[in-house]
Amino acid sequence: KMQMVTCVAPVNIAVIKYWGKRDENLILPLNSSISITLSPTQLRAKTTVALSKDFEKTRIWLNAVEQNPDNPRLQNIIRKIKHRAFRCNGEKNGQANKEDMLNWHLHICSENNFPVSAGLASSAAGYSCLVAAMANLFEVEGDLSGIARLGSGSACRSMYGGFVEWDLGHCSDGSDSLARQIAPCDHWPELRALLLVVSEQPKTVSSTLGMQNSVNTSELLRSRVECIVPRRLAELRASIAEKDFEKFAQICMKESNQFHAICLDTYPPIGYLTEVSDQIIALVHRFNKLCERLKVAYTFDAGPNACLFLMEEDVPRFLSLIRHFFRPVNNGPENFIHGLPVDVP
Ligand code: DP6
Repeated sequence: KMQMVTCVAPVNIAVIKYWGKRDENLILPLNSSISITLSPTQLRAKTTVALSKDFEKTRIWLNAVEQNPDNPRLQNIIRKIKHRAFRCNGEKNGQANKEDMLNWHLHICSENNFPVSAGLASSAAGYSCLVAAMANLFEVEGDLSGIARLGSGSACRSMYGGFVEWDLGHCSDGSDSLARQIAPCDHWPELRALLLVVSEQPKTVSSTLGMQNSVNTSELLRSRVECIVPRRLAELRASIAEKDFEKFAQICMKESNQFHAICLDTYPPIGYLTEVSDQIIALVHRFNKLCERLKVAYTFDAGPNACLFLMEEDVPRFLSLIRHFFRPVNNGPENFIHGLPVDVP
């Protein structure tokens, strides 16, 4: 007998960035972060998890390529889910079933409909999807962000929709380092995200390694974590509550710029942005200046692709400007992904 579940999970875009861990194994961050979860219609991970007592070992495929299942992050997730399944179902299903579940192996099959490692939050969608599918399979209830966090820090934020905060927490076991929704997506329905795919090449330095190097070598990172992020979190929360786009936009762009400044302050330096990224930054600032107010905000993660935030009414005008200045690679399809914040069911 085989049990099987398929889930879809969305990506999230950080406005206040997570960059730096205080615990590598439990994936505990140095600072809290805030993100927006985007609609899974265009960017999503899809994962099928099958469980059978006939499987000889646990196997995992990512975009049809088999991966090593001994990855400690994957093993941590499987262990945690089974542990929670125990607590949720152990008593009601009886001892026999409890032991079966621990011994059965899994087959996991995950695919993204967008480039992996190009800085488009694919690990966030991938791990949150895996956790959602496994929780479903094992009938685990309650908050799952703490388990998703064990796969990839940013994945914990994809467990919730709308506007999400990942609280850094204070316990050394990580039990309070969880994500929660701070506002549903319909709180600010006019807000739009526009993703500009600059490159589908994998990033030069993975987020995991990059942030490790920053923690070890960047002096700016320390003052960012201690003095700047706490203030910005409060300001961003207020801008979202008040739907004050100009305030939101300024924090968003300054956060992105500071994150990339920290990357350059890392030794040896990490450069995630390309010439095209810089041109997008310049275009946004020129457009805002022309409008005499902030109408568009950019943010870049660990890669050259831009995520722009703007109001729905400004999308056509700004898109035509983008089309005028940037041509799609090889005259291929347009490299725009039009997203909107969503609530995860
Ligand atoms: C720049 O979550 O990918 O996107 O926890 O090591 O897996 P690990 O890192 P990851 O880092 C994301 C970094 C970021 C900022 C953010 O999403 O907050």
